[in-house]
Amino acid sequence: MARHLITSAIPYINGIKHLGNLVGSQLPADLYARYLRGRGHEVMFICATDEHGTPAELAAAKAGKPVADYCAEMHDVQAEIAAGFRLSFDHFGRSSSAENRALTQHFAKVLAEQGLIREVTEQQMYSKADGRFLPDRYIEGTCPNCGYESARGDQCDNCTKQLDPVDLIDPRSVISGSTDLEMRETKHLFLRQSAMKDRLAAWIDSKADWPVLTTSIAKKWLFDGDGLQDRGITRDLSWGVPAQFDGAPWAGMDGKVFYVWFDAPIEYIAATQELSAQDGTDWARWWRTDAGAEDVTYTQFMGKDNVPFHTIGFPATILGVNGAEGENWKLVDYIKSFNYLNYDGGQFSTSRGRGVFMDQALSLLPADYWRWWLLSHAPESADAEFTWENFQTSVNKDLADVLGNLVSRVTKFCNSKFGTEVPAEVVLTEREEALLAQFREGLAAYEKAMDAIQVRRSAEELRALWVLGNEYLQAAAPWSVVKTDADAARAIIAFALNLIRIYAVLSRPFIPDAAQAIMTALDCEDWSWPDDLDTAIRTLPAGHAFTVPENLFRKVTDDERDDWAQRFAGRRD
Ligand code: MF3
Ligand code: ZN
Repeated sequence: MARHLITSAIPYINGIKHLGNLVGSQLPADLYARYLRGRGHEVMFICATDEHGTPAELAAAKAGKPVADYCAEMHDVQAEIAAGFRLSFDHFGRSSSAENRALTQHFAKVLAEQGLIREVTEQQMYSKADGRFLPDRYIEGTCPNCGYESARGDQCDNCTKQLDPVDLIDPRSVISGSTDLEMRETKHLFLRQSAMKDRLAAWIDSKADWPVLTTSIAKKWLFDGDGLQDRGITRDLSWGVPAQFDGAPWAGMDGKVFYVWFDAPIEYIAATQELSAQDGTDWARWWRTDAGAEDVTYTQFMGKDNVPFHTIGFPATILGVNGAEGENWKLVDYIKSFNYLNYDGGQFSTSRGRGVFMDQALSLLPADYWRWWLLSHAPESADAEFTWENFQTSVNKDLADVLGNLVSRVTKFCNSKFGTEVPAEVVLTEREEALLAQFREGLAAYEKAMDAIQVRRSAEELRALWVLGNEYLQAAAPWSVVKTDADAARAIIAFALNLIRIYAVLSRPFIPDAAQAIMTALDCEDWSWPDDLDTAIRTLPAGHAFTVPENLFRKVTDDERDDWAQRFAGRRD
C-alpha cells in the first residue's frame, strides 16, 4: 500500500463552473483518487475554492454583497455541486482560510529571510474618487485597437488584444465610473525567481517521466527571451492575504495583499491543515518530507493554462522556502494537465454563459452520465469538443446498451427462471476459462492506463471489459440453454452475476452511483479489487440473495438532445 497526495487546481470562487472547467482538473483528479483508493492505497485528495483577487471582488460587488459573505456563500454552492458530481475530496477548502493566511505569510517571511524577495517601485493607475489604486480589471475604457468601449485594463474582450491600462482611451474606474485617474507610485514585493533559475532547471531536468508538453512550458519560462523573470507577488487590494505581519522585514506594505496566484497554490497545503483542524488528520505526514511525506507520491491535476504556475511559480516558492533551515516541504512528483473542452463549435464561455454549467448538467441527468462522457472524451492530447449528438451516442451506447443492458438481462433472467438468489456455485467450463483469460488481459490494460493517468484510454479499456461480458452472455445464451439443461444455465448466470460485481468495482472510479446501485442490488459490500480473478469471480456464493436493480441508465431521446442543444446555445439567465 502506497500513499498518494492528489490535488486539483482550485476553481475561482466567482460563479459556477462549466463542464470544461470540470473535466480540466477536478473530475480526472477524482477518477485517479477513486482508482487508487479502490486498489487499496492511502489517498489524500484536496481541492478548494480560489477566493482572492479582483474577479472575486468584482463578482461580489456585482452581487451587491460584502466580498467575504459572497465567498462564503459561493463556497457552499460549489461544495454542494461538487458533491452532486460525487467529487470525493478529502477536503474542499477555502483559500481565504486562517490556515492559508498564516502559511502564505510564513512562506513570504522565509523567502524574505532567504534574500529572495525585493521591493520594486512602480507606477500604477490611482483613482482619487475611489481613494485606491485600480488593478487591471478595475479599469475600463475604449480599446485603441478596435474601438470597443468596454475594454478592460488587461485585455479587450472584443478583439482579444492584450492591453496595458495606459493604452486605454478615456479610461474610467469600474467601481465609481470616475475618470479622475492618475499614475502614482506604488511599492510591490517581487519574488526573485531569477535567483532560483538553476535550482528550478535542475528540478525540471529531474522529471524525465513528465510529458514534453509540460516540461517544454517550464523550459520556455526558464530560458526564453531574457530568461526567468522576477515576479510581483503583491497587489493594491484589500481582499486577500495582507502582505504584512509580525516581524516582516519590509515596511510600507499597508493596504496591500499577496497576489492571488501566490497564495492559491499554498492553499493545497493549507486546505490539508484545515482538515487537520477539523478532524485531527496529521497534515504534516503528507506535506513535510521530515514528517513522513518522503514516501508520498504527489500528483497535481490542472488545465494547460495553469501549467506555468505549477512548474515555475509554486515550485519557486517551495524551493526557495526549502533553502531555509527546518523547512522541508513536499514538491510535486507528477503534473497531469489537460487541453480545453470546446462546446458545440465554439468555446465554453463563463462571461457569455455559453455551454453547460455544472448545476445545469445535474438538473438534466445524474452525475454518472456526465462523468462518463467527460472522462471518456477528456481533452488529453488535443482539445476536445462537446456536442449533444456525441453525448447522446455515448450515453445510449456505452452506458445503456452495454453495461446497463448486461446487468439488466442477467438479473431479470435469473429472477424469472431461478428466483433472486445466485442459482449455483461458480464452475468454470472452457467458455468461462476463455473469458477469464481475455478478461485478465483487458484488466491489466485497464490498470496500466489508469496507473499512467491516461484517462480516455482507461475509459476505452473499461468499456472493452464491459463488452467482453456482453459477448460472453450472448455466446453462452442461457435463455436457450435453460430449455435443455437448467443446471448449465444456472452456472452461466452464477458466473455472470459475479462478473457484474467485478464491473461495479472496476467502474466505480468512473460511475460511482451506478457502481453503488449494482452493489446494493447484489447485497454485497465487498469492493476489493479483483487482483486475483479466480477468487473474485467466486465472491457471491450459491444462495446469495439479490434484488433486480432499477434500470441503471436511461437513454437520451432525440427530442431531449435537440431541446438541450437549443437551450444551451445562448445566454445563461
Ligand atoms: N483558480 C485558478 C484557475 O481556475 C487555478 C488555481 S490553481 C492553484 O485557473 F494552484 F492556484 F491553486
Ligand atoms: Zn479591442
